[in-house]
Amino acid sequence: MGVLAIDAGTTGVTALVVSPDGHIVARGYQEFAQHFPAPGWVEHAPEEIWQACVSATREVLTQIDRSELTAIGITNQRETVVLWDRETLGSPRRAIVWQDRRSAEICTRLREAGHEGRVSELTGLRLDPYFSATKLAWLREHEPHTWSLVESGRYAVGTVDSYLIARMTRGTWHVTDVSNASRTLLMDLETCDWSDELCELFGVPRDALPEIVPSWGVIGETDARSYCGLTLPVAGIAGDQQAALFGQTCFEVGDTKCTYGTGSFLLTNTGTEVVRSDAGLLSTAAWRSPSGETTYALEGSIFVTGSAVQWLRDGLQIIGAAAEAEPIARTVPDSDGVVFVPALTGLGAPHWDPHARGLLIGMHRGTTRAHVVRATLEAIAYEVRDVLDTMPSVQTLRVDGGAAANDLLCALQADQVGVPVERPEIVETTALGAAFLAGLGTGVWPSTDALRATWKLQRRFEPTGDRTAADAGYAKWRDAVERSKSWA
Ligand code: G3P
Repeated sequence: MGVLAIDAGTTGVTALVVSPDGHIVARGYQEFAQHFPAPGWVEHAPEEIWQACVSATREVLTQIDRSELTAIGITNQRETVVLWDRETLGSPRRAIVWQDRRSAEICTRLREAGHEGRVSELTGLRLDPYFSATKLAWLREHEPHTWSLVESGRYAVGTVDSYLIARMTRGTWHVTDVSNASRTLLMDLETCDWSDELCELFGVPRDALPEIVPSWGVIGETDARSYCGLTLPVAGIAGDQQAALFGQTCFEVGDTKCTYGTGSFLLTNTGTEVVRSDAGLLSTAAWRSPSGETTYALEGSIFVTGSAVQWLRDGLQIIGAAAEAEPIARTVPDSDGVVFVPALTGLGAPHWDPHARGLLIGMHRGTTRAHVVRATLEAIAYEVRDVLDTMPSVQTLRVDGGAAANDLLCALQADQVGVPVERPEIVETTALGAAFLAGLGTGVWPSTDALRATWKLQRRFEPTGDRTAADAGYAKWRDAVERSKSWA
């Protein structure tokens, strides 16, 4: 018996099969192309995302007996907007990705017109090109023909979860869950329903949007003709960061996780009440139960962490592979005064400066690539501290995602945040969370307590007692961050 989880991330799709005892028994992965049609623009071809999903699924089907699968859970890169034809399921254009900054001017215009306060009050978010509705407003302004077919009802609008479910169910279902909907700037965070006021502000017809459903419970069924011969209940949906919070079994108020991926996303569970931050954190829906109880979170979204290591590899070309970062950084005891602010696409939480740019400072004649690589790992730890310091009291930080395997990063992280960092046995927590949701929705696991029992600590990193060196490094970082701001 096993639950199939699909994690449609920013750079590829992972398929995992999770057994009832919480182990991964099959795994598939397929990357897809990134399109950069103009500076600051990032697009994905929906058909390529779908084909990557099919191919990752086929890979797991070679490893297990398909008759043992009981349900499917979907998790996904959030905020990215997809359009598709309700009849043919083909997309009229590429998806506009969460990293895409093309709607910055629309945000400025709306801010100048005095809308930011109300938008934040309703959504818990900010007026930033990161969020879906600003991208839809751009489409409406710049691609009127396409938009007229959205308005006429021919094209459906959705996030990546909605799109994949439409493809898997042959167009029968047009749904999203509350965690994804809460990232669009169109959902009222208190009622968890689309807001007519926001739909009007951004010019998005409410009828084009998916139905908002709970995060677990059977929603529909995959159609074997479309999806790898599988007829499975779709029983879990969540945006990837909320799914990781669930996969880390952060079910209590104050439970906090950090997922290291392209960027890093810290979420802390705030319970059934919306908690608001005046320090640059977002209020967001974490998940909603079939009985209608919503759990909320505070989130700090950091845009560039793992992609800073990629930049060392592909841009500077001073490492050959991301996995080399740790051994190279370990060849020096510290960064010897070098500080790297990887504001390569501006700064997200808690600074929110789209005009900040990367800064490398403090080099001297003795500086080597090892110092720069070490400064990059330190930067990730500092960025996470910037966010964590603004969160209500956090006792331990659970980490996951690819870079969580890096022992040096985890140790630096513990020193910076000053609380223990806990790494579970499974760091593919996003997909695990999607499996947990679908399994909870179909009785594979009877309760969240049963899920909690499957979480296993792999290693705990304690902060060093003397905070002097960590705090001195952090003070330098804060100085460098200020210098990186308002550059572009
Ligand atoms: O908000 C963006 C986030 O959902 C992307 O996550 O892991 O695909 O980079 P990831």
